[in-house]
Amino acid sequence: TPASAAPAAPSKPQTPQYSADDDYTAVWSRADALKLKQDKTNTAPRVSPDFPVITDKVWQWDTWPLTKLDTKTATYRGWHVIFALTAPRSVPFGDRHWYAKIGYYYSRDAKSWKYGGDLFQPGTAFGSRQWAGSAALVGDKVYSFYTASGHDNGGVNPNDPLQRLALATGRIHADTTHVWFTGFQDHRIIAQADGKLYQTLEQSQQGPIIYAFRDPFVFRDPRDRKVHLLFEGNTAGVAGTYQCTKRDIGDVPYGHQVPDNAKYYTGNIGLATADGDSMDHWKLQPPLLSANCVNQQTERPHLVIRDGKYYLFTISHKFTFAPGLSGWDGVYGFVGPALRGDYQPLNGSALVLGNPEDAPTQQYSHYVMPNGLVESFIDTVPTADGGTRFGGTLARTLVLSLRGNRTRLTHQLDYGFIP
Ligand code: FRU
Repeated sequence: TPASAAPAAPSKPQTPQYSADDDYTAVWSRADALKLKQDKTNTAPRVSPDFPVITDKVWQWDTWPLTKLDTKTATYRGWHVIFALTAPRSVPFGDRHWYAKIGYYYSRDAKSWKYGGDLFQPGTAFGSRQWAGSAALVGDKVYSFYTASGHDNGGVNPNDPLQRLALATGRIHADTTHVWFTGFQDHRIIAQADGKLYQTLEQSQQGPIIYAFRDPFVFRDPRDRKVHLLFEGNTAGVAGTYQCTKRDIGDVPYGHQVPDNAKYYTGNIGLATADGDSMDHWKLQPPLLSANCVNQQTERPHLVIRDGKYYLFTISHKFTFAPGLSGWDGVYGFVGPALRGDYQPLNGSALVLGNPEDAPTQQYSHYVMPNGLVESFIDTVPTADGGTRFGGTLARTLVLSLRGNRTRLTHQLDYGFIP
């Protein structure tokens, strides 16, 4: 086990190799984030205010496809299936988080989605609402991971930020007209913040932005063959006690001052590993990447493994950057030599796709698929009369080219195309 990350000597380039259990966390530094700059390769096109809506029943936001454990999207008997956070459209758009439930949708052509209703039977899930997750198909069994958000039976309560990772298993069924699920009766809490590797709710109380222990993303690492979860966490310890390190700050331009409040911003990308394919027990591992003193939220982390390289993506907001830094609502990314390794920010700064300046919250919750297609939901779109239109439906799918440590937006496709 390498004790420290010794930088490779320039004459003999060599990348340290780590395993999932090693204690090495890559860093998104302030120096990286100071390079954030928009150009046409990383700025999303404006979302047209006349976008179509998938269903008038529910707001739809964070969305994930049914996948195989190799992260590729799966079909079942010719059906494409996606899962999403949903809330009745009768709830104000901004309050949807406190009513969120996982809904499912199915389609023949991967873009004309039919809303199928709630995934879980009432009263079976942990938490008082469900936040983002992932779903893996193994045979006809579906492993549905989600964030049990809020205390059990906590009701609608925006002041209850508890988050735990949960798993429920069920079965998928389909005929020529529709897709449905059975099971999902046996829910389990599989991971909780421990206060040593990941900040607990109690430790977070002083922080200015909601803490995180959420958004499990399941995959099998082709190298160690183990099943793992990525998730969004915060660095353990009482909020405000973190001390920004030289590594967190990085090689910043001369004169760059780190504001004292930067210590409150401690987002990370966490890792948990299953003890076997039955996924019965999970072990928390040190974070893969931290954004200490850079950003409080590295939400919905996910992974694309291509040509032996590990592309780690996460969504983040403009308002969650630490003082003295600024970015865009959008998707950020890193590339590394292995699941755990010295991840480098894509495009120098990590920005992959950000919202345009004149529509800063037009879309969010981007999810990059192994085929380079990026789905996201429409959030709040400026209209010609100076007002706004809320989305709560899928945005046009954006196409990304991924080469080495660079990404480039190439074009856009249909609304909600998730093949
Ligand atoms: C991202 C997100 C997720 C969370 C969900 C809650 O849009 O903040 O991190 O699971 O939305 O609604």
